[in-house]
Amino acid sequence: LLTNIGCIWQQAQELPALRRGAELAQLPYLKDAYMLLEGDRIVEFGPMDNCPEKEGYSVYDVQGRDLFPSFCDSHSHLVFAAPRQEEFVYRIQGLSYHEIAAKGGGILNSAKRLQAMPEEQLLAEAKKRLLALLRLGTGALEIKSGYGLTYEAELKMLRVIKALKAWAPIPIKATFLGAHALPPEYKEDRAAYMDLLIEQLLPKIAEEGLADYIDVFCEKGFFSLEEAQRIMEAGKAYGLPAKIHCNQFNSMGAIEAAIAAGARSVDHLEVLNTDEMKALGQADTLACLLPTAPFFLNDDHRTPARALIEAGAAVVLASDYNPGTTPSGRMSFVCSLACIQLRMLPEEAINAASLHGAYAMDLEQELGCIRPGARANFFLTEALPSLAYLPYSFGSDLIEAVFLNGELHWE
Ligand code: NIG
Ligand code: FE
Repeated sequence: LLTNIGCIWQQAQELPALRRGAELAQLPYLKDAYMLLEGDRIVEFGPMDNCPEKEGYSVYDVQGRDLFPSFCDSHSHLVFAAPRQEEFVYRIQGLSYHEIAAKGGGILNSAKRLQAMPEEQLLAEAKKRLLALLRLGTGALEIKSGYGLTYEAELKMLRVIKALKAWAPIPIKATFLGAHALPPEYKEDRAAYMDLLIEQLLPKIAEEGLADYIDVFCEKGFFSLEEAQRIMEAGKAYGLPAKIHCNQFNSMGAIEAAIAAGARSVDHLEVLNTDEMKALGQADTLACLLPTAPFFLNDDHRTPARALIEAGAAVVLASDYNPGTTPSGRMSFVCSLACIQLRMLPEEAINAASLHGAYAMDLEQELGCIRPGARANFFLTEALPSLAYLPYSFGSDLIEAVFLNGELHWE
């Protein structure tokens, strides 16, 4: 039994639908509340005046702090072998993301290191990162492959993710991103790499249940629209919906193709035209924004989030945690940047990072809001003077306690 909760944010009695347009700014809350947990579930909550008798319950006095559902981070590359701080310096010296990739840095650099690292060590490193994320309020996470880029190394990565699923106290979804970058040995024969992904890896992955989604980096110098379409269709044939990387630097028609393929989400979207926004406004495909990536790259492309919201798109926020473009999975900072640089309102940012993040991982039945029957994954912050204080306090640690599966995980 939790007593004296200052405010429960993002609360609901029934599962809320996706919030589009002006509704995205609606964040239902309940002040001065209690909440009852049983096992790993939320049973009920209500005004403190209606708090049940305390006998028979173990009581946790929240002391007026605020309560939020855990962040649902639907886009990450958490499994990697090594950080890439040299590229950070290259960028300071003036090289672009594409120039660094062409020099053999970037994704190919990460792939080389991952191929060389034993599976157990990869797993151990990923576990450390995941534990750190739990303290930052992340209560569900999607993780991609895509730093393997060979038959063996992609499977190794996906097996690490599978092991994380079994070990972690939070739900994890796995995404097969073999089409992240073209390995140099296939430079003269792109078709052979596509065949490796589609004819050899995909059947094996499906057979072993190693992925929930399929992804492709549709971008100049990476994978073309036609290749992206082939990947999405192949995934579909094996029951893997698409969540794709597109419109990070260039608009290539991937959004319309993804919608047509029934993709769960299109991610990045720093570059968007009016037609694409309109299409997303009418689509079930979610629009996942990753504002820390262009921030870290000091890239001028910024998602026109206001126009996207006005067009009616279902907007998600995620971290993109990866060694190249966002070496951080701090979702509270993602929310701050969404407010500062994309002009999203604090309520919109929280909706996008919780409820919509859960939808983007097909976890909305369990997570994303505080609701009777939902999994009890949430965090407590210091008592906030208002919701805006959370994204306003960028870089500060306002999270003081984390509950996962109904148990106090950390305080
Ligand atoms: O989401 N854009 C493609 N993939 C990652 C970056 C990967 C890397 O640079 O290692 C991203 O930003
Ligand atoms: Fe990414």
